[in-house]
Amino acid sequence: SAKLHTLAKAAGKLYFGTATDNNELTDTAYTAILDDNTMFGQITPANSMKWDATEPQQGVFTFSGGDQIATLAKTNGMLLRGHNCVWYNQLPSWVSSGSFTAAQLTSIIQNHCSTLVTHYKGQVYAWDVVNEPFNDDGTWRTDVFYNTLGTSYVQIALEAARAADPNAKLYINEYNIEFAGAKATSLLNLVKSLKAADVPLDGIGFQCHFIVGEFSGPGLQTQLSTFAAQGVEVAITELDIRMTLPSTPALLAQQQTDYNSVITACMNVESCIGVTVWDWTDKYSWVPNTFSGQGAACPWDQNFVKKPAFNGIAAGF
Ligand code: XIL
Repeated sequence: SAKLHTLAKAAGKLYFGTATDNNELTDTAYTAILDDNTMFGQITPANSMKWDATEPQQGVFTFSGGDQIATLAKTNGMLLRGHNCVWYNQLPSWVSSGSFTAAQLTSIIQNHCSTLVTHYKGQVYAWDVVNEPFNDDGTWRTDVFYNTLGTSYVQIALEAARAADPNAKLYINEYNIEFAGAKATSLLNLVKSLKAADVPLDGIGFQCHFIVGEFSGPGLQTQLSTFAAQGVEVAITELDIRMTLPSTPALLAQQQTDYNSVITACMNVESCIGVTVWDWTDKYSWVPNTFSGQGAACPWDQNFVKKPAFNGIAAGF
């Protein structure tokens, strides 16, 4: 039966991977599938490398959760994506509600990124250094970083990450850039300006949290190519394709088509280096907790049975 990472490699990609989370690793039926490095060649921690998990109080770093995922990746011979250094969400309140001068917040970002990336130096293929900087209308998110530092926080974070681990690929990761629009345009302009200023940036992550039947593969392919043309690699970093519950055979069939289209889009763009699903089983998907009434977004169901979506992925590589 098909092994997705093996298929991805044979098709010239670097990996097929998945997000996972620490609380899932006590589920031995889950880890029996997760630990198969022919199925998954890459791991992303869904939560345990975020700021609230890694620096809950200023200057107090806790890496136990992240280390568990890093060890799992290493033990299984899987690539690791670091997620993430700077994001408006899951920020401890000492950051989000702090009132800092520009100089203070600069050194807070530098210390956080530097300590985090240094801790995992040599273990991480790529870091999502900046996550979700834009609103859907293409304006910058007015979080503590932007409000205090303007757009310069992006450069501050990227430079700190580069200095900490020169071999890690540095990414900006975003959603709703998988189709043409104001948000994709703003991010593209940011990439152009960072490149023009020689700011270290290696990749753009396309999250790809999609809705069954609503997404167009050719649009994604165009966006992947458009960003890649700026001299960055691109990756599908958080793929899932949700539906309004209950699932039906028709919805599952459309989901298979949609998963296949995502893989095809990545296949058709040489600089698209790999695909990560945002967990492989509906049992641990973030979707039902975030989008009320929706779910069934992953390629395996809640009982770890492969869905038609699995075949859509396998056929795409
Ligand atoms: C999600 C996690 O999967 C959830 O467990 C958590 O409660 C919220 O965050 N975009 C991202 C990810 O970049 O970090 C988010 O992960 C999903 C959306």
